[in-house]
Parts: sequence; C-alpha cells; structure tokens
Amino acid sequence: MILTGKAKLAGVMGWPVGHSKSPRLHGYWLEQFGLDGAYLPLSVAPEDFEAVLKALPRMGFAGVNVTVPHKEAALAVSDTLTDQALRIGAVNTIVFGEDGKIHGSNTDGYGFLENLKFGAPEWSAKNGPVVVIGAGGAARAVCAALIDDGVPEVRVINRTQAKALALAADIQGDISVLPNSALPAALKDTSLLVNTTILGMVGSPPLEINLDGLPTSAVVTDIVYAPLQTNLLKSAAARGNVTVDGLGMLLHQARPGFEAWFGANPEVTPALRKFVLES
Ligand code: ATR
Repeated sequence: MILTGKAKLAGVMGWPVGHSKSPRLHGYWLEQFGLDGAYLPLSVAPEDFEAVLKALPRMGFAGVNVTVPHKEAALAVSDTLTDQALRIGAVNTIVFGEDGKIHGSNTDGYGFLENLKFGAPEWSAKNGPVVVIGAGGAARAVCAALIDDGVPEVRVINRTQAKALALAADIQGDISVLPNSALPAALKDTSLLVNTTILGMVGSPPLEINLDGLPTSAVVTDIVYAPLQTNLLKSAAARGNVTVDGLGMLLHQARPGFEAWFGANPEVTPALRKFVLES
C-alpha cells in the first residue's frame, strides 16, 4: 500500500474494534483495485462517538462503517437516513457530504439478501413464507430486506416475544410473531429458514431446533459465521436442504460503503472469503 497526500480515507468505528474484519476486507479491495486510499480501525468510546464522528469529515474522511455499540447513536446523529435504516433503527454505513452532512444507511439487510441470492440462486421471494429465529438488530435488518424483496409472510420466533412484536411494528409489512410451540407448523410451507441469533456461535449454546417439518426444498441460512458450518447448517444439509453460510453477509454488506467512499464496485469472491477467514 502506497499512500499519497490525496489518499481517500474511511474506517470502522467500534468499541472495541480489534475483532473487526472490516479493515482486512476493505484493505483487500483497496489493494486489488490499486487505489490510493486507506480503511482504518477507529477505536472510539461511546461518550466520544458524536464528537469523533463529526470531526472525521473535517479531516477529509469520505465516510465510515459503524459497529457495536454505536449503531443506534449513529442513527440519532445522521442528517439524512434511508428508509431501511430508519425502520431497522440502526446505521452501519455513513457517507459524509461535501458540506460535512452525515448520510446514514444500513446495508446489513442488503448484505443478507445478496449473500442468499449468490448462495442459493434458486431461492426467490415468491417461493413462500420465511421463518426468522431471533428479533435483535440482525433480525430487524433481515426482516426489512425480506419484506422489501416481496416475501409474502415473515414468521418471527424469539425467546422474548415483546422484542419480536416491536420488530414487527417497526419494520412493517406481513410479519407475524409466533411462540416457540408454533415452530413445527410454521416450518411446513416455508421457503427459507434464517437463524439471526447468536446461538450456534463459538462460545454460545447451539440452536436447538427440530427440522422435521421443513420441506427439503427450503433454503436454510445462518448469520453466524464462526463456525462457518453451524450445527443448524450441518443438520439441514444432512436432510437435503440447500444451505448458505453467514460469512457472505459480512462481505456483501461492505460493498455499498466501499463503492461510495472509494468509487469502485468490489466483488465477493472465493479468494476474498479465504483471505478474510485467515484473520
Ligand atoms: P444482534 O443485534 O446482533 O441481533 P441482540 O440484539 O443481542 O444482537 O439479539 C440477539 C438475539 O439472539 C435475540 O433474538 C436474542 O433473544 P432475546 O431477544 O430473547 O434476547 C437471541 N438470543 C441470545 N441468546 C439466546 C439464548 N440463550 N436463547 C435464545 N435466544 C437467544
């Protein structure tokens, strides 16, 4: 990497930020395109978030990604918001206007859908209802993307039902909230099953779910990517369902920001997946 005085700048604001794969991911694309630019990890405490964010355009930054715990604060300080960011209630991508204005968007749902469509090209929103497990921030992004893509019905199941009801009210569209006991019936005509919880992640308990009623034509995807093959994906693949792992969501959600800041449209390739997994 050779930087000049005209290098374009972007980064990721988090607290902590050391675990983030984004610098490696954007660094790969900057190198691949031979661009004069840098993408930096920005470790920023919550109490400093707004002041630091507002200083960045004054230092020439084109924009930033925002990760835990700043996504809601980023929504609150944005001058403009996309409709999806507003409904999700969180911002993960910021582009600074030439006037220093903060333009907030949320690309997590886009990343989810792109990953799904690359990984399971036979799946389409027309194929039928979708079952989503979980109702946190990731579930909000997933549900908004699915509804906006034209899925006829999204069925949300979450340990805390109140959170699922709030999700349905905020995202809007045909979203039904079901108790755990309704899962076997809900799976019967499902075209897609999504785990958006942390269950199955290294260090968390596995997701306990009986897939018996799920049609073998249904696609199963997990937003957990460590491990890449979660128990859910392994069980689904063993009974003949097409599965899509969660790493691609992380990679695809990064594309719109990279294009806005650095002016090139990057691709998600097997080589990129391997490079990011090595970190
Ligand atoms: P994120 O914003 O990354 O989605 P989150 O808001 O903490 O994270 O949401 C995590 C999801 O995993 C939630 O749906 C959570 O369920 P609750 O809403 O009931 O908290 C779910 N989750 C986490 N641990 C769980 C567990 N042990 N059993 C069932 N669900 C769990």
